[in-house]
Order: sequence, then C-alpha cells, then structure tokens
Amino acid sequence: MIRFQLLAEDAAARRGRLETAHGTIETPVFMPVGTAATVKTLEPRDLQALGAGIVLANTYHLYLRPGHERIQRLGRLHRFMSWPGAVLTDSGGFQVFSLGEKGAGRERGGPGLVEIAEEGVTFRSHLDGSRHFLSPERAIEVQEALGADVIMAFDECPPALADRAYHELSLARTQRWLVRCREAWREIEAREGPRCALFGIAQGGLFGDLRARAIEEAAALDLPGYALGGYAVGETPAEMWDGVARDAPRLPREKPRYLMGVGTPEDLLAGIAAGVDLFDCVLPTRTARNGLLFTSRGKLVIRNARYADDERPADPECGCYACRTFTRAYLRHLFKAGEILALRANTLHNLHFYLSLMADARRAIEEGRFAAFRAERLAAWRADGD
Ligand code: GUN
Ligand code: ZN
Repeated sequence: MIRFQLLAEDAAARRGRLETAHGTIETPVFMPVGTAATVKTLEPRDLQALGAGIVLANTYHLYLRPGHERIQRLGRLHRFMSWPGAVLTDSGGFQVFSLGEKGAGRERGGPGLVEIAEEGVTFRSHLDGSRHFLSPERAIEVQEALGADVIMAFDECPPALADRAYHELSLARTQRWLVRCREAWREIEAREGPRCALFGIAQGGLFGDLRARAIEEAAALDLPGYALGGYAVGETPAEMWDGVARDAPRLPREKPRYLMGVGTPEDLLAGIAAGVDLFDCVLPTRTARNGLLFTSRGKLVIRNARYADDERPADPECGCYACRTFTRAYLRHLFKAGEILALRANTLHNLHFYLSLMADARRAIEEGRFAAFRAERLAAWRADGD
C-alpha cells in the first residue's frame, strides 16, 4: 500500500522516496492543504503543473459536508475531486478541538461543546451546530471510506500551554486510542485487503520524556509511518524547533516521518534538518489569499502602496506562472480590487515557493550540503521584501 525508501542522509536530514498507489513522492515533501477536497483556488492540473504529488484533506470537514458515505459512493476522494495523485487525510481529532471550539458551538453556550471521553469525542458542527461523535474506530472508518492513501490516527492535540498533568492524562488516552485505531485499521485490511497506510501520531507537548515514551510505545505498534503532532499550537518557534530536533530522530528510521501542521519556510528547514520527511500547512495558501507572498528575499505584502507602480515580478527569482506573467503593480491592483485572480495568482506563487524550496532542499541533502543551504536561505529571507 505504501513503501518508503531512504535514499540519502546528510547529518539528521533525510532524502527519501514514498511509493503509493497514486504515484511516487520524493521526500522531504510539502503537502498542500485541500481541506474540503480542493486546494482553494486551484485545479488539479495546476497542482500537477506545480509538481505536487500529494495533498492533505480533512476528515472532519468532509465527514460533515458532503459526507464520507457520499464521497465513497462517488468513487472516493480521488475520483470525487479528480485528483490522480496521492491523498493523506487527517483524522479529525485536531479539527474537532480547534474548530469545534470556535465554531457554532461556542455561541450556543459554555464548556462541554467538545466533550472528550474514553470512548471518543462529542462535538458540534461548526456549520450548523449539530451534534456528532468521533472515536478512533469511527475516524478510521471515515478515512477508509474517503479512500485516502495515508490515514492518520485519532488523537487529542492539547494546547502547548496546557500543564503537565493534563498532557499526561491526554497522552495516555491518545496512546490507548492509537491501539484502537490500529485494531480498526487491521480489521478493514483483513476484510478488504490493503487499502490505506495508517500513521501513528506522537503527542506530549514540550515534555521530552512524555514525547520519548509516546514515540517508543507508538513505534512498538509497527505502523507504516509516524507523525509528530502537537507542534505549532502556541509555543515559540524556538521551542518547536528544539522539540522537533529532539523528537524526530527518535522516530523509527526506516519509516516516513511527518510533522503535522508546520509551518513557515524557516520551520520547514528546521524540520528537514531534524529528519522530518513530510509537512503540511495552510500557511502558504491561506496567506496567499490574504495578500502575503513568500519570496527569495523574504515576505512581501502585495497590497502595500510601494508596489503600485512596480513593474517587477513578485519574486524576480521565481519561475512560477504568476511571476512569469504579472507585475507587482498588477497583482496589487487585483488584490485591492478583490479580484478572484489575485487569490489564484498568489496561491500559485506561494505553493511554487514552498514546493521548489523542498525540491532545492532534496538536492542539497543528496549533495551533502543541507546545512549550508539552510543558512544561505535563512540569510536571504532576512532581507525582507525587496
Ligand atoms: N494537525 C496539526 N497538528 C495536529 C495534531 O497534533 N494532530 C492531528 N491529528 N492533526 C494535526
Ligand atoms: Zn512566483
């Protein structure tokens, strides 16, 4: 169902290859986020032209709308969204906690909107306030119905500021849920043959000993891949980088390693240096729609008045369609005028930036010069803008 090969190592950084039923993915890789079975503003052919081989979709959103059973009837995610590449789904755990809390529920009154019990989590839809229940078994069942190539364990992702006692309690439950996820996944496999690869998720906040224990217990379950969850949830970047540098090398060496929901270009380089193979984040696509562009010289806020007459491309060093075609002056105009093309051009550019950063990082690892590559890029981004 998947196969992972380690091709080269450069200190802790890894160059690998992930084979799936929907294509081969060179790692380290960035997975664009297609929460609702679409990477917002882009068509599948755009993603292919960008060189994206795998996208992330969210169980939580697709379960609520249009429903996993409907997607299954319509040929599962690949056919439903006409995407020939690989798909990874997140389990819904994280989204239940982050969206359930700020969605329709909160106005409807007080705590208890997201109720966590040993059996699973009861939550209210952020769409219409209706009540739902997700458990490890249910999250696996939904993800299998969606037809993802890689599915994620159902976990709780506590905020970084939660205290140690809460992290211990939550982690113990997440670990019990992981065993149940594996059981549910194996039952599906026994019934229907190998369909999707289950990745375990290690939590533990910023507590090194909790993380170490979580990783050790998860590794003993011999799953096809492993993720670090619970990062970029309120801690400082330095705390995250230290944590990831400590945890990633503890994950099984021969399995793919995924750092969930991370991050900035700086975070990706820190993660790669620590030995992470897969990343996803809404940052490049979401900030594109807010007019923030990542460039070889740092961040560029396209609505800024100083670009009103600027005939240069957003990033003179970028080869994306938007940079080959449009001036900053035009992109600024489109954004200020609220034109749809602004969102699309900015998204194309930011994803090109992220994906070519990863391609350059892969080459640097192959050539044993990743540390120098990282230092060079960090210095160039500090120039900030022009
Ligand atoms: N996305 C970002 N962080 C997390 C996490 O800790 N768990 C899950 N399931 N998804 C995430
Ligand atoms: Zn560009």
